[in-house]
Amino acid sequence: MMKLIIFGPPSAGKGTQAQRLSKKYGIPQVATGDLLREAVAKKTPLGVKIKSYLDTGKLGPDDLIVQLIRDRVSKPDCKNGYLLDGFPRTMDQARELDKMSQVDLVLNIVVDHEALVERAVGRRICPKCAAVYHVKFNPPKKQGVCDKDNAQLVQREDDKEETVRRRLKVYSEQTAPLVEHFKKKGNLVDIDGSKGIDGVFDQMVRAIDKLHK
Ligand code: AP5
Repeated sequence: MMKLIIFGPPSAGKGTQAQRLSKKYGIPQVATGDLLREAVAKKTPLGVKIKSYLDTGKLGPDDLIVQLIRDRVSKPDCKNGYLLDGFPRTMDQARELDKMSQVDLVLNIVVDHEALVERAVGRRICPKCAAVYHVKFNPPKKQGVCDKDNAQLVQREDDKEETVRRRLKVYSEQTAPLVEHFKKKGNLVDIDGSKGIDGVFDQMVRAIDKLHK
């Protein structure tokens, strides 16, 4: 049983690392952003409510997000643990998570915000399997096409530079203060996010493997 949080600003590499760690440790990635984008694409009642938040880079209402996570982590594939990516993002969400479960480790990706604009603007995602690429830092084998299922890659609506900057501001104001909350609980480890994708992954694996020593 292992419960992890991947924490950090927009485009720090949370999703990229969560997908790799999920494969290595056999626990599902629970990514609020992916769940919300799926709801928007399917035009579910949640998707209809949340679309404008996603498009403009604002945080969705806490009650909707907490319910989404509660439902997701109660599914059978989460019985041996999970990896939270993009949750919690406000103090209220963190308090709700504390009531819900005990997290083993928070992997806090620390990286300069200017570097993140380039990462976000160059990001491409697979609309079918949510795989994450970057035109420069992590290109697919064939330009514009997902390696896994050949789907045409797309750019996220909120990856325009102006919206990325707004998301970074929202992160600094509402989400970054959670670092102190995790520090008090004593389960936070800083990860140097300025390294390449493999370098960041290695640091995370070392931190996770220490849990079992
Ligand atoms: P969400 O999808 O969670 O967006 P985010 O936190 O802004 O994070 P990103 O998905 O942008 O980035 P990432 O850290 O996963 O980076 P990635 O691996 O893709 O949320 C979207 C929206 O949903 C929010 O704005 C909000 O509206 C709503 N929402 C979500 N959760 C919510 C919550 N809890 N409460 C309320 N609202 C919520 O990497 C980025 C790019 O960089 C990629 O192209 C990748 O290839 C590249 N890259 C990755 N690592 C490296 C590296 N080490 N070096 C170079 N390039 C790299």
